[in-house]
Amino acid sequence: MSDILTLALSKGRIFEETLPLLKAAGIEPIDDPETSRKLILDTNQPDVRLIIVRASDVPTYVEYGGADLGIAGKDVLLEHPNAELYEPVDLKIACCKLMTAGKIDEGQIKGRLKVATKFVESTRRFYASQGQQVDIIKLYGSMELAPLVGLADRIVDVVDTGNTLRANGLVPMEHIADISSRLVVNKASMKMKHARIQIFIDRVRKAIEEQ
Ligand code: ATP
Ligand code: PRP
Repeated sequence: MSDILTLALSKGRIFEETLPLLKAAGIEPIDDPETSRKLILDTNQPDVRLIIVRASDVPTYVEYGGADLGIAGKDVLLEHPNAELYEPVDLKIACCKLMTAGKIDEGQIKGRLKVATKFVESTRRFYASQGQQVDIIKLYGSMELAPLVGLADRIVDVVDTGNTLRANGLVPMEHIADISSRLVVNKASMKMKHARIQIFIDRVRKAIEEQ
């Protein structure tokens, strides 16, 4: 196993909200993923590098050892219920809620409920827990559109301010889960690089407490 510590994260919201926590752990990226096309970013620490992956790919990279550590939303982790990962820290960033939503004026829905979402696993479990049989339609984004064009009756998506739902004539309905980003750790790395990973975890935890 290499001596380099590799941390997987997605650009945008998670990268930006993670920067202060990384800084508190003494790690500062040299390149900015918003302007650089590089997918492997060096940091001020020669033995720590960041890899930039799709948010939904972080658990896969970490589980299979493409990265030692990763940062992923709980919404994403819930889609990988059998992933062999440690999840030692709730970073309390990128907070939102996973919710069902539908049209304000949806009227009576005939037949089985059609639900469009990229969160198929959470959606399946939520409706199963309600004892309701639904047809789930897998989408990769812009879920809000589905009820507007008759593709689905409802959606399951993350909601923060509610502005996106409102702007599309939708209302939040049922709460499925509170979401925040988590630090995830590869199980073999946790054993083989234990001291370094533990120092990282301790520093990040301290930074969260101080925030
Ligand atoms: P992918 O590219 O894999 O489809 P994505 O576009 O959902 O991922 P981001 O929009 O960067 O990726 O979101 C990353 C994480 O941030 C999500 O997994 C979720 O936990 C959280 N998140 C998403 N939207 C919001 C929001 N509006 N407010 C706060 N947190 C959010
Ligand atoms: C996310 C999510 C919702 C929106 C909810 O989209 O997919 O559409 O945020 O946030 P709100 O309740 O504050 O409006 P995001 O802005 O990340 O765009 P993306 O999913 O296309 O990346």
